[in-house]
Amino acid sequence: MVASSEKNTVESILHEDRVFPPAADFSNNAHIKSLQDYEQLYEKAKSDPETFWAELAEQELHWFQKWDQVLDWKPPFAKWFVNGKINMSYNCLDRHLTTWRRNKAAIIWEGEPGDSRTLTYGELHREVCQFANVLKDMGVEKGDRVGIYMPMVPEAAIAMLACTRIGAPHSVVFGGFSAEALRDRLEDAEAKVVVTADGGFRKDKIVPLKSEVDKALENGASSVQKVIVIQRTKQDITMVSGRDYWWHDLQKDASPKCDAEVMDSEDPLFILYTSGSTGKPKGVVHTTGGYNLYTHMTTKWIFDLKDNDVYWCTADVGWITGHSYIVYGPLSNGATSLMYEGVPRPSNPGCFWDVVEKYGVNVFYTAPTAIRAFIKMGEELPQARDLSSLRLLGTVGEPINPEAWIWYHRVIGGEKCPIVDTWWQTETGGVMITPLPGATPTQPGSATRPFPGIIADVVDQNGNAVPDNTGGYLVIKHPWPSMLRTVYNNPERFQKTYWDPIPEVEGKPVYFAGDSARRDEKGYFWIMGRVDDVMNVSGHRLGSMELESALVSHPAVAEASVVGVPHEIKGEDIYAFVTLEDHYSPSNELNKELKQHVVSEIGAIARPGTIQFAEALPKTRSGKIVRRFLRQIAADQDIVGDKSTVVDPSVLDKLREKV
Ligand code: PRX
Repeated sequence: MVASSEKNTVESILHEDRVFPPAADFSNNAHIKSLQDYEQLYEKAKSDPETFWAELAEQELHWFQKWDQVLDWKPPFAKWFVNGKINMSYNCLDRHLTTWRRNKAAIIWEGEPGDSRTLTYGELHREVCQFANVLKDMGVEKGDRVGIYMPMVPEAAIAMLACTRIGAPHSVVFGGFSAEALRDRLEDAEAKVVVTADGGFRKDKIVPLKSEVDKALENGASSVQKVIVIQRTKQDITMVSGRDYWWHDLQKDASPKCDAEVMDSEDPLFILYTSGSTGKPKGVVHTTGGYNLYTHMTTKWIFDLKDNDVYWCTADVGWITGHSYIVYGPLSNGATSLMYEGVPRPSNPGCFWDVVEKYGVNVFYTAPTAIRAFIKMGEELPQARDLSSLRLLGTVGEPINPEAWIWYHRVIGGEKCPIVDTWWQTETGGVMITPLPGATPTQPGSATRPFPGIIADVVDQNGNAVPDNTGGYLVIKHPWPSMLRTVYNNPERFQKTYWDPIPEVEGKPVYFAGDSARRDEKGYFWIMGRVDDVMNVSGHRLGSMELESALVSHPAVAEASVVGVPHEIKGEDIYAFVTLEDHYSPSNELNKELKQHVVSEIGAIARPGTIQFAEALPKTRSGKIVRRFLRQIAADQDIVGDKSTVVDPSVLDKLREKV
């Protein structure tokens, strides 16, 4: 049964008839050229997934030793390419050096203040090897975890690749998280070393990263022995003797020779924390061989990469999108991946289009929230730049509303670029449901069809398939190479979160994604949103429980309940209902203070849009807060549904009056 499902029936109101078939000249040059080609691949993968993946693994990746078995599936635990030996950093770097790509740009980087740098595959390899030796000198051994808390600079990718080179799983923490959130993650991962920067540039301000690391380490994370600091902003910071070292001091003396460690296919590659509906963020564990293969294939076919493309994914490396589609997928393919430190800001709202023009970007991958913000800023900004190099566009992170899709298609894509709306998650490692740009006719708002090898379905609470065009729970019915292997140090939570909510179908467990969706008669998926208490604010996942814990940790707060409300640009915004302890009374100052408190507990991405003080919250007889009604109140809707579950329904009217 679905645990926290107050929305047992999911209604879809979206009806979209516009269809955009791929242009013939795009299809002719694409890796996957027609719907028929896609369908053949899909059927082949469905009928014999192991042979399908094994053939690709053999063709596309370098293995030090071949596997004995393609898949060992003991639900919920999967092993891919059992006993295969491989190294991700080798596949991203070394194997390109013996080809002409040695001198090809691997990373093109543009800093927010306008500085820039290009690293060829040869140069990137050298830097990665040096930094791998630095990590070894700092005592990092195979299996040790390394925390990475960095701005969007090439060194972030270098540090990630150096970790994978020596077999030390990294745990990248988004630079926008606060010291508290960083500490929790470093503690859970028991990181030995942290790689950070003095600061980063964001929206013309300096984000103080090193001082946040200092605070995190003052209050815990005692496993951390060394901190390596990149000098980016040159502001004053404190360096603790014997613990903190400058990147440039260590790097200049390090040897550029470092063989890639021979890793088992199932050795952990990284841990990445993500919010769930209960408890603290979960450490999602990805392993080496399957993740390498799946991110490689999805990058190649979905972004249709060609050797002369400049490919730009605007995500931050702190999120899964940055891991899979800035660093690993593109570099494994020998592509040129652009990294940009900045974001659109009042001093430079057109900066994205400047970057597209400056580097002649061909493939551009961003989030719906960014597109909605661009719409607000006006067409003049993109129209004032030459965007004619673009040939393919992508979106990720949340459902895209058809109007934003159409704007993206018309204004950015000049009506000639296919759009790939890619549905996936931190847990899935790579894109799961998506058009293939030369093959799939697209429809605004639909992620269309599953990638070959992905068996997706929409089912009800009992695991029965629902009829076409009926909302239900999105599930995946067969293991795939880049699926999360477990929740770090918490296999019970792994089982409970992803495998228990929907009962077995025909004796087989299914992966519960936590999203609702409907499938239409063509087999297209329309993702409707989360069914659990996870919010999606500007494409960032935030669990209501984390936000509530952050609020309750303030001395004034007795109880808190947090829900999402629709927001024009962010998609969803955070709306918190708060009751106060005795001796505290509601005021504007306290309201501001509580918002700031959440920022310091989690980070600026978690700042609530609204905090409403309440005398009481609606509860069931067993004391459970009924969020369903709070959602309606926050969205300023009429209260509908059975109020008799609430002990004192007058509470609802009082809350409603105050909106
Ligand atoms: O609700 C879905 C939404 O984002 C969730 C995953 O968030 P996260 O793990 O942070 O990864 C984001 C980047 C992969 C999903 O459960 N989501 C992601 N992509 C889409 C989407 N919702 C609709 N359409 C998408 N294309």
